[in-house]
Amino acid sequence: MKRIQPWFPTFIYGDRLLRKGGAAFNRELHKECHQLRDFDREGQRWSKANYPGGYTSYGSMDKLHEFSSTFMDLAKHIDRHVRAYARALEWDFGGRRLAMTDCWVNIMPHRTAHSLHLHPNAVVSGTYYVATPKGCAGLKFEDPRMSKFMAAPPRLPKTSDANRLYVTYPAEAGKLLLFESWLRHEVVANPVKSERLSISFNYDWA
Ligand code: NI
Repeated sequence: MKRIQPWFPTFIYGDRLLRKGGAAFNRELHKECHQLRDFDREGQRWSKANYPGGYTSYGSMDKLHEFSSTFMDLAKHIDRHVRAYARALEWDFGGRRLAMTDCWVNIMPHRTAHSLHLHPNAVVSGTYYVATPKGCAGLKFEDPRMSKFMAAPPRLPKTSDANRLYVTYPAEAGKLLLFESWLRHEVVANPVKSERLSISFNYDWA
């Protein structure tokens, strides 16, 4: 064994949702996300108070995979990736299984941000990207041990990947990211004029 060996890594999964037909499916999702925003008065009010400048259905319609056939199809496609992720994490469900519990839309116009948070009451969380204008913000993850570092010195400006305190995954239309729900993450203010559109979700095991 090497003299110094890294242990306890954090796994983040990134892949294209579909091998083919992704663009057409994305157009359908794009249309439904806008229809939802225009129709969801309660969500518009909720977003005004909790998601300044943007729209999210998180506070009003967060089970879209149960209401729309397009979102049901999306959930089916995501399931496949979540199963692969769970296999890599070597989880033993003991006869139970992971299932999507929440699914909601996020539309971030210019300057809308989503500050550091985690997803309570879930095991796996993730985001699928529908529209990602050039230069839009990615998804920034924080080292989950940060709260335990106490007297640890700061890191050099350039570190190896294993010693990073943050990593930002680019937001790319047609791709999805999965992570464990306790991993804190944020989206910095969208620096570009066009809307960034994503669909987020949670999985729990039961
Ligand atoms: Ni999140």
